[in-house]
Amino acid sequence: MPLPVRLCAAVTGLTAATAVAIAAVAHAKEPIVEYRQAVMAAIGGHTGALKPIITGKVPFAAEAKPHAEALAALAGMANGLFPPGSGAESDALPAIWEKPEAFRAALDRFRAAATDLARRADGAPADMAPAFGDLVKACKGCHDDFRKKS
Ligand code: HEC
Repeated sequence: MPLPVRLCAAVTGLTAATAVAIAAVAHAKEPIVEYRQAVMAAIGGHTGALKPIITGKVPFAAEAKPHAEALAALAGMANGLFPPGSGAESDALPAIWEKPEAFRAALDRFRAAATDLARRADGAPADMAPAFGDLVKACKGCHDDFRKKS
């Protein structure tokens, strides 16, 4: 978002204060970090939406498949989200680049789990539970080793 604040406000009709806030956020982080965190947040959103579907707490069984397919697609993007040198001002740990093989294994595990989950999304949501459990383990495994603890 490299537009000057005033132009940005004029174009979007935002208040100056909002435009300043957006500009401040945009300048605090590298675009790749913003993008990575947004993709991860989307992954978190679909995972969070699937959980109550799979546990039968919300009546949206038909929506399990689009969430699972979105996760498979997003997992396919994860590989490109961590170019060398993109660790600053983020929660990405240096271990990502110091232990590339272990990190690659964590990515592979994630992709495999997300693909497997999407493949099972035609049946009853409850039957997705084991594959969903594997997916969440893949998230946690990577976060434990490669993401700063907050
Ligand atoms: C291969 C490693 C890896 C896998 C697998 C992974 N993550 Fe992440 N995740 C990260 C890293 C590293 C960050 C910190 C990124 C940053 O700050 O730039 C992160 C950040 C996040 C964030 C915070 C985004 C933000 O707004 O800053 C959420 C939410 C998240 N992950 C959810 C998930 C979920 C849910 C899964 C599994 C379905 C998952 N992640 C799988 C490595 C991974």
